Amino acid sequence: MTLVSDSPEETTEIGKHIGRHLIKGQTAFIFGELGSGKTTLIKGAAEAFGIPARDITSATYTIIAEYEGTVPFYHIDLYRLDDIRSIEEAGVFECIGPGKAAAIEWAEKLDGCINGGIRIHMAYSEHEKRIITIEGIDEKNWDYNQAG
Ligand SMILES: Nc1ncnc2c1ncn2[C@@H]1O[C@H](COP(=O)(O)OP(=O)(O)OP(=O)(O)O)[C@@H](O)[C@H]1O
Ligand SMILES: [Mg+2]
Repeated sequence: MTLVSDSPEETTEIGKHIGRHLIKGQTAFIFGELGSGKTTLIKGAAEAFGIPARDITSATYTIIAEYEGTVPFYHIDLYRLDDIRSIEEAGVFECIGPGKAAAIEWAEKLDGCINGGIRIHMAYSEHEKRIITIEGIDEKNWDYNQAG
């Protein structure tokens, strides 16, 4: 499924809908270059767990940020990690599992280690547009209607 977001606010709204699909202990793997809107989308996903969007930030040296939501919610940023070994050592895989929810930026770094979950690719388009491609969501239960 491919959506076009016209603003940061719309990306957060799309993230919130994605978050509702994460409740059953799934992980969102987010791909896309610098500034493509990964953190902006995760703000919305966090809201789906009762965590205020403003609490989600992108501190340079934070790899794993844990939040107390309706279930433990992990915002993970792999930007500074270079290989699977360092990702493992950082404890990323412990954040994935039943009863937890995680959203991972720079999923490119996981290389071939991704199975299942929701995969989201973010790409620039003109001005404030972003193309958001979502895989792994049952489209029958996807109730987001784009305005306009
Ligand atoms: N439609 C849009 N969706 C999301 N962000 C947008 C959009 N249009 C403009 N922006 C701007 O693009 C920037 C996206 O930043 P954000 O931190 O979410 O990206 P990121 O992919 O997490 O970057 P990084 O790779 O550095 O972690 C913000 O400044 C935001 O305001
Ligand atoms: Mg980010």
